[in-house]
Amino acid sequence: MKVSRRATFNAAHRLFRSDWTDEQNKDVFGKCSNPNYHGHNYVLEVWLDGPINPETGYVIDLKTVKDTIQSEISERFDHRNLNLDCPEFKHLNPTAENIAVVAWGLLRAKLPEHLELSIKLWETENNCVEYAGK
Ligand code: NI
Repeated sequence: MKVSRRATFNAAHRLFRSDWTDEQNKDVFGKCSNPNYHGHNYVLEVWLDGPINPETGYVIDLKTVKDTIQSEISERFDHRNLNLDCPEFKHLNPTAENIAVVAWGLLRAKLPEHLELSIKLWETENNCVEYAGK
């Protein structure tokens, strides 16, 4: 059985490599390399896969998942500049892919081990990445 909790957070970022020239960055990252940053309304879906607990009828109380997303993701990244405010991205380009890997690691450390964790991160209405530890 798979259960899911959704959350949103707003954050600014800039995609670039400091070891590349401005021109290389612009070629590869386009508008996302704008030096003055830009924002996204991220949508995070957290999915947990495991057995229904016969005692509670739940796979997991989704309030627990809500609280874990709040403490591990929203409090860290919501209304932040990912490049400047978040040490996780000091040396890591804050693409949707890399944000998903970081978010998965933070959530994995706090959610019950017997449940498989996968996340989807929507960066725009149309662009989404999915990560499940690989
Ligand atoms: Ni962007």
